[in-house]
Amino acid sequence: MELRILRFLPRRIGLSARLLMLTVFFVMLTEVLLFVPSISRYRLVYLEEKLEASHLAGLSLDATPDRMVTAQLTSTLLRHVGAHAVGLYEDGKLTHNLMVPEMPGVDREIDLRDDTFVELIADAFDTLGQKRNRILRVIGPSPKDPSVLAVVVLDETPLRKEMYDYSQRILGLSIVIAVVTAGLLYLSLQVLLVRPMRRLTQRMVGFSPDAPAAGVPPSLRTDELGIAERALTSMQEELRYAFRQQARLAALGSGVSKLGHDLRNILSTVQVLSDRLADSADPEVKQLTPRLVRAVNRAVALTQATLDFATERPAVTPARFGLADLVQEIGQDTAVMGEDGFRLESALAPDFEVEADRDQFQRVLGNLVRNARLAGARLAEIGGAVGPESASITVKDDGPGIAETVRPKLFQPFNTGRPGGTGLGLAIARDLVVAHGGEIRLVESGPEGTIFRIDLPASNAIRTVSRATRLPET
Ligand SMILES: Nc1ncnc2c1ncn2[C@@H]1O[C@H](COP(=O)(O)OP(=O)(O)OP(=O)(O)O)[C@@H](O)[C@H]1O
Ligand SMILES: [Mg+2]
Repeated sequence: MELRILRFLPRRIGLSARLLMLTVFFVMLTEVLLFVPSISRYRLVYLEEKLEASHLAGLSLDATPDRMVTAQLTSTLLRHVGAHAVGLYEDGKLTHNLMVPEMPGVDREIDLRDDTFVELIADAFDTLGQKRNRILRVIGPSPKDPSVLAVVVLDETPLRKEMYDYSQRILGLSIVIAVVTAGLLYLSLQVLLVRPMRRLTQRMVGFSPDAPAAGVPPSLRTDELGIAERALTSMQEELRYAFRQQARLAALGSGVSKLGHDLRNILSTVQVLSDRLADSADPEVKQLTPRLVRAVNRAVALTQATLDFATERPAVTPARFGLADLVQEIGQDTAVMGEDGFRLESALAPDFEVEADRDQFQRVLGNLVRNARLAGARLAEIGGAVGPESASITVKDDGPGIAETVRPKLFQPFNTGRPGGTGLGLAIARDLVVAHGGEIRLVESGPEGTIFRIDLPASNAIRTVSRATRLPET
């Protein structure tokens, strides 16, 4: 009910104003609920008072020997009661009787002896709704003495008038109560909730991680708002810290890439010179040279990998190409790396084509295959499948599986599990796949081998045209 009412309120109205209106509404509603029984009670009391007054007026007849009084006294007594006629019955017999000379006809008879709560309410509203004066004949036991049954004939208009006055008083009181309650509630909500909430909102909206801390004093409140304020403060501090850290890392990164660039040039010179050392006549130099060359090569590779990672990724230039051809090329590259019995096989359909950046995919798959080989796998296999929504490429090997220590941050830079590794291969692979709108994930890894899967949107940077292989419906 409350929610339904809230929906009708315009959206611009603030929280406190809404609560103000709701409070007024609910107080008024409560007053109406209280008004219904109280107005019927008011009418009952009015009628019972008339019965009581009738009883007393009737008893005054006992002062005369024949229970007869003058017409003038009769009319005075009846005027005091506010009735046209009064009758008292004891044991079913009329004992006292007072009546005006011209008795008007009775419009409605009200017997208070058998009226239920609901009937009393209905009768009260019946009275309120009348336009003309009705003559009522009210029957009920005298409140003074229940053994006496009193009957009184009276006008309805004075009763209705009093009921109207009573209603007006109740309405006025309700308005005062509603306004005072709502006003107090409004003020307390302003102080307790709205203002702190506004402060909190302003702090959120005005927050900028690179601006210095505003020096907001810590909240001393122990309620939910205090918790929220403190949580916001610590969150903002963490964000500022992370932002500073990020800025420092970025500066460091650009420094490193400049350094790497120059280092690579120096190393190229060293590479050329060390190659020349191989021709030296000195047997000791000759013996040490291959190790020197290997060390220099590693240094060049490390510098190159760091540079690759630090530099902005080149934009994806998609073109359609057969994946099987690319796998064959990677296989040849790997074969050049040395005779260790490692084989790369393709499980791809010959017409499996993708639309992607070929060079970047060569690096992605090359990195995955090189990882498998360096981990000690004998065989790696690249497969592919097309589904209605996406295409996937899998790289599976029979190596020993990924070490538990590197798994939690597998795709993060500088996370390596092998001596001499830089831990950039998978980070670069992921960056490149993401640049294609795809995703790379580790499917499984254990003593029997490791499977990586690259998912690419069929419609995005890459489109597979193969109909030969279909992903199983999942
Ligand atoms: N197929 C795999 N089998 C076993 N371990 C793997 C495999 N692929 C990756 N790993 C583990 O994950 C680590 C991180 O790989 P990643 O390619 O990111 O870095 P790296 O190979 O150590 O160095 P880089 O590739 O930069 O020369 C590896 O060091 C290796 O321990
Ligand atoms: Mg690697």
